[in-house]
This record gives sequence, structure tokens and C-alpha cells, in this order.
Amino acid sequence: MTEVSKQDTIAAEGAVYYLFGATGDLARRKLFPALFSLYKEGKLAENFAVVGLARRPRTNEQFRADVHESIGEFCRYKADDAEAWERFAEHFVYMSLDINNVDGFRELARLSQGLDEKFNIPGNRLFYLALAPNLFGPVSFNLRDGGLLESQGWNRLVIEKPFGYDLESARELNQQLSQVFEESEIYRIDHYLGKEMVQNIQVLRFSNAFFEPLWNNKHIANVQISLSETVGVEERGGYYDKSGALRDMVQNHSMQMLAMIAMEPPSRLHAEDLRDEKVKALRSLRPFESAAEVNQHVIRGQYSEGSIGDKALSGYRQEDSVSPESTTETYFAARVFLDNFRWAGVPFYIRTGKRLPVKTTEVVIEFKNVPDNMLFAQRHDLAPNLLVIRVNPMEGIYIKINAKKPGVDNVVQPVSMEFCQSCMIGINTPEAYERLIYDAARGESTYFTRWDEVAEAWSFVDRIAAAWREDSSNLELYPAGSWGPKSAEELLAADGFHWWPVNGQAEDNVIWISGGPK
Ligand code: BG6
Repeated sequence: MTEVSKQDTIAAEGAVYYLFGATGDLARRKLFPALFSLYKEGKLAENFAVVGLARRPRTNEQFRADVHESIGEFCRYKADDAEAWERFAEHFVYMSLDINNVDGFRELARLSQGLDEKFNIPGNRLFYLALAPNLFGPVSFNLRDGGLLESQGWNRLVIEKPFGYDLESARELNQQLSQVFEESEIYRIDHYLGKEMVQNIQVLRFSNAFFEPLWNNKHIANVQISLSETVGVEERGGYYDKSGALRDMVQNHSMQMLAMIAMEPPSRLHAEDLRDEKVKALRSLRPFESAAEVNQHVIRGQYSEGSIGDKALSGYRQEDSVSPESTTETYFAARVFLDNFRWAGVPFYIRTGKRLPVKTTEVVIEFKNVPDNMLFAQRHDLAPNLLVIRVNPMEGIYIKINAKKPGVDNVVQPVSMEFCQSCMIGINTPEAYERLIYDAARGESTYFTRWDEVAEAWSFVDRIAAAWREDSSNLELYPAGSWGPKSAEELLAADGFHWWPVNGQAEDNVIWISGGPK
């Protein structure tokens, strides 16, 4: 097999892309490389322009040199043909902008008209705010007041997380944005939704006779969603100490993955239909009613000193810009239930943490065992069937089944069959940001979060945050490089389950049909 899916090479309509925060880390690591990849693959129309915006003064030449450097470092395509590079780079201009001053926006509107004329762009505008969320409102107002939304084409606003700090602040933010943009013009990024295997969840579920009939509480024992990271808080201590794993990872990425796993099949493959189903799934999450319930079902941890490999690592409280008395969680695990017909009684275990032993995102679906009075189950200790969806950094799926061990002894052996997408030669998986920018430029909002999804996720998460505010004594320390607090193991053990090993931690007794985890 050499091809996973047909490449979609329809170019997005011509547009001006406004990158607010153009001198920042996100632009450098993700956005410039993504634009270049899209260009190389014919997914950007020839008639496009990119306006880099930040406060810092910069000439167009300096800006283009920054873009070139970022592509050299982070892009999966190289920009070493000088002539081709010039053709691409001439679409990039830079303007220094004070985002609190509407006059600058008026000047930007004039610049935009010039770009429309120069590149024959039909007035389409995509505003990408790689900025702190408290600036989303002011920038939106100034875009409107500065006359940037008055052209003939479409306007789209792309924003990064975090979308608020809790439900109340998210509502305020949404209220501000909705004074300027329609919901259908707002593209809220959750970059996990741009990941190949997260998008693949619905294909696996809804186009395989193997899975969908079994995808319910009659056949599934539990679901485990793990987002583990080896990194600590790096240079983001100031932000992270106020946010913690709950707001940084759970409210968005974990909840979105849970929704993709749990949702009902959408009636049509339209963005609104799929998002309707995700909202319904999130709405059926059983809310925690008291701090005692939170304590029973949720584990919070913080890394202390430790090591990964032979690298000694400091504890979270010793990180830059982190309070030495911080009670912020860097680890989160929970048992959650969805009270609906499909999932009643099935625990979903979600966990995420920093400074864990491996970087991996995986979903494990553990199926119920065959009845105990069956011949084979009586005689053998049968392992449950698993479906494992590997999202990151390796992409693929494997299933674990029971099979007869070759030979004369009647021995049953677990066997894993793997589709390792990222091992396949010739697959050059696009970065999440490539997909998302391309989608936003085409007006395809399926993999962006709609306001009601965000609100549902906040209302679930807010109850946990409130319980923790009441009582912070349940914070457990775990050594950097370990799998988190012990009680996260006990959480599953109490239900008769355990966390299945993830990426690179394969079980010894399993025979792999195709190599085994990398
Ligand atoms: C971000 C979080 O949203 O996701 C970071 O703010 C985290 O703290 C990152 O490191 C993880 O993303 P990925 O794609 O590397 O798994």
C-alpha cells in the first residue's frame, strides 16, 4: 500500500493572511512552515499575500529573512531554490502595529487594498491571532473600526487557545468576538483536531464493519486516553502556573479526543453535524457534584526532581517563573462517565502530564472479555482485545487479539496486528497547522471548535477547578520521569483495570505481526 488517501489538492481561494504575533514562537515554528508547505503542494492560491504584524519594527526584507530561516529549521520542505524562494517571498510583507491604536489598523486597511490590487485578491481576509487571549477582543474591535472588514470578500478570524480561563471568562470573550464576527467566521484552533490520527478516528469508527457494531457499553470495558509529555514547562512557567494541566490540556485536547471517540455518527458529513454530535457527547458527561466526588475520581499531581534517561531534572517548583509554593498540577488523571445509551457504565480514563517517561498520545479501547464459560476462557487466562489508536508522535493503529501459539501445545497467545502509518515509506504527514490553515482558508470548520463545545468543556472542568480551590491537599508529587502519582494506578485498579502500556512500552508476551511499537 503506497497511498493512504487521495491528496486533496484544491487550492484555497486567494486571500490576504494577517499574522498577528508574527515575530513570536508560534509563527516561527508552525505558521510560516505551514504556509510554505501549503504553497509547495499547490494548496495556496497563487493570488495570496501574508502580512506579518507585531509591534517590533522590521523591514519586509528582514521579515522575509525570518520566514526563510524558520522554514529552513522547521519545515518538511526545503526552500533552497533561490528563484522559487523569491517568487514565494514577494507575497510576504511586514507592518509594525500597535494593536491598541485604531489608526494603525486604518493604515493596514490601505495596505490591504494595495495587496488586493497587486496580487489580484478578491478581498478575502483571514486574521490569524497568535496573541494572548486578552487581546482577541481589542484586536477584533479595531479590525472593525479600522475598516478591515468592509471589503467584498469573506472575513475569517482564527484564534489560538486558551479560550478563556473558565466558563465565565470564556463567555465574556465570546461575547466580545460576537460583536464583530459571526460564529461561522470564527475558527477556534485546537491543534489536536488537526492531527492526522484524531481526524482518522471518525473514519476508523464509521467506515469499518469491525468497529462500529462493537462501539458501545455492551462490548467495551473501558476507554483510556493518554496524552503524556516528557517536556516540563520550559519557558512558559508564568503562563502554566496559572493554567495547569486541567486548563492547558484537559479542557481542550483531552475533551476533544473524548468527544471524537464517544460521539454518535453524524447524520451528514458537514461541519455542523459533526460538531452537533460532539456537543451532545460532551453534554452527556456526568458532572462532578461535590469536592468529595472530584477527590474520588480525579487525581492531580506535580512533578518533583527526577530524571529521564540520564538527564537529571529539576522539580516544577524550581522552574523559572513558577512559585516555589505552587500547587498547580502538572499531571491530571480522571475517571469520567458519559450518561447516555451508548456509554452508560463505561469508564473513560483520561490522563495527561508533563515530565512523564515518554512523549505519546494514545487512545486504548479495551473490549469486554468473552464469556467465562466459553471453552477457551475456562482453560486460558485470556487477555482482553484492544484497539489502540496512536496519535503522536507515531501514527497508526493496532489491535490486540488472542490466537493459538504455533506448535503442538494448545497455548493461546496475545497477538498484535499493526498499521503503522508513520513507518510507511512515502508518507509525509502534514503538520496539524497545515491542515488547519488550509481548512480555515477554504471555510471548512469541521476541525475547529464551536462555541457550544468550548462552553460544555468549561462547565465540566470548572467543577474540578472549584473543588481544587476548596482543598489543595490532594496534590501529589511524582518524580520527573515517572508515570505520575501512584493513585492514578489505583484509580483503575479499583475498577479491576490498569493503564495499558503506551508507546514503546510494549508488553513482553505479545507477538507483533508487524514489528511492534517504535
Ligand atoms: C499545547 C499545550 O496546547 O499542547 C502545551 O499548551 C503542550 O503545554 C502541547 O506541550 C502539546 O502538543 P503536542 O502536539 O506536542 O502533543
